[in-house]
Amino acid sequence: MLTAKFRCPECGGPLSERQDALVCWACGSSVPVREGIADFVRGRFDTILDVAAYDQEHGIDDKRPNRFYDQIRSQAGGRWPPSLGSVLEVGCGTGLFSRALLAGNEARDVILTDVSVGMLRECRHHLTRLGVLEGRDVAFATYSSNEACIRDAVFDTFIGTSVLHHILDVRSFLEDVYRGLKPGGRAFFIEPVRRYHQAMAQSLADIAVFLTAREGGKTEGFQPLLNWLAQQRQSLMHKDDQSFLERLEDKHQFVPEEFAALAGSIGFATAEAIPFGNDRTGVGTVQLLCAELGIAKPFRDVIVTMMPAVGNRFMKLLGPTDWAPSFLLWVTKGHGPSVHTFQTQPDRSPTRPVGPNMGGVAPHWQIRVVASSSAQGTVLAVDGWYISNVDVVGIRVTLDGTSQDAPLWLPRPDVQQALNQRGQYAAWNALCCGLAEQLAFGGVSSVDGEHGLQVDVVLAGGGVARLNGPDRIRLGETAMFSG
Ligand SMILES: C[S@@+](CC[C@H](N)C(=O)[O-])C[C@H]1O[C@@H](n2cnc3c(N)ncnc32)[C@H](O)[C@@H]1O
Ligand SMILES: [Zn+2]
Repeated sequence: MLTAKFRCPECGGPLSERQDALVCWACGSSVPVREGIADFVRGRFDTILDVAAYDQEHGIDDKRPNRFYDQIRSQAGGRWPPSLGSVLEVGCGTGLFSRALLAGNEARDVILTDVSVGMLRECRHHLTRLGVLEGRDVAFATYSSNEACIRDAVFDTFIGTSVLHHILDVRSFLEDVYRGLKPGGRAFFIEPVRRYHQAMAQSLADIAVFLTAREGGKTEGFQPLLNWLAQQRQSLMHKDDQSFLERLEDKHQFVPEEFAALAGSIGFATAEAIPFGNDRTGVGTVQLLCAELGIAKPFRDVIVTMMPAVGNRFMKLLGPTDWAPSFLLWVTKGHGPSVHTFQTQPDRSPTRPVGPNMGGVAPHWQIRVVASSSAQGTVLAVDGWYISNVDVVGIRVTLDGTSQDAPLWLPRPDVQQALNQRGQYAAWNALCCGLAEQLAFGGVSSVDGEHGLQVDVVLAGGGVARLNGPDRIRLGETAMFSG
């Protein structure tokens, strides 16, 4: 079946099946097949997720796949087709969706893909154990969205649950999906809702601040919570920066109107973001998050108990399109060239402030830059913090005209405690206001060891504000910026 659906990733030519490879008729290159898994990715990309621990960490047992499948089906309502036809699942993982898909009869044939051979083996192990592979037309292949290996118009349905947000270039992936779908076909994905998670993070930051004041932040489980807040902040601040997101496993969260606009520009006939999972207060989602973070019950109970009252401030700001932790993203490919309906909404994202003093209170900062030399040229170690009420992406250091950015995201509960006793800064900004980076300036070196130095704050809207301080630095010297 693979050769009917996939093509040569090198030249687009047709593939033929050999015992341990798929070989291209046109250019002769081959795709290895090991233990029944065609390996298009060949280790060029991978996941950091732990295959062996995945099911336990995500509460996946033998009952969950059917419940999950039924929930998607019921949320899709009238969009669900009489048959899913020929299916490709992306990022199948250990088979949360595919175990139920193959237990039922709604798919004619199925190709299960993932970036990771380990995940595919684990998925197949469960499918075999459950006896759902017998008599079915199923194939396994690695695919990461970076291989041009899917043939045109060969699938009726593309599916991905919790995988789109791992794919760096969502546009290019959706273009692949569009091309691979037959006219009249559909694709659906379950993915995190950005505004919901932002409201949840802001609520949890308030809770963390309250607990720092009460217990000094010494409780077990406090650090994993801070780390999650910091990561959440990091991916939000850098949401449009592909070179930054490349380093993260979880890369994106979704906004309905952005998704609809993207899908529309690719050519899909319809695009909808349907709220998936009912948790207006955020309590259930926080509970799941605590479990994923390994936060033990006593501390988890404290957080969960505080969530309704503290979180209400942020969760109530969400509109109906963002009332759930996840979206069921549903796109269809039209039968003809006409484009019909898009769920579009005015962009409700807050307008960006343009100056560092916006947001009421003045910012404070303490940033240290230490210069040294290495084989790669001059290296600046940059650390410290910047607390403000505006969203700061990072600190830009310019050395002899060459700029490098150090992201601002590390948890600094000490700064929060020292400077935000009265809560005049948003807890979310105050808690994750630290930075610590080594910036290598290859090719920047000077005869007398002295360099021109400039330090700026980079705001989320793209604005830049210069920090007063030394404008020269010598190797071995430390430059301090504070205000
Ligand atoms: C959060 S898990 C979801 C797994 C499964 N779909 C589920 O719902 O439990 C993300 C999956 O996507 C895979 N993945 C990560 N990056 C990927 C990429 N670029 N292309 C395809 N799969 C990817 C991971 O290996 C992992 O199996
Ligand atoms: Zn070829």
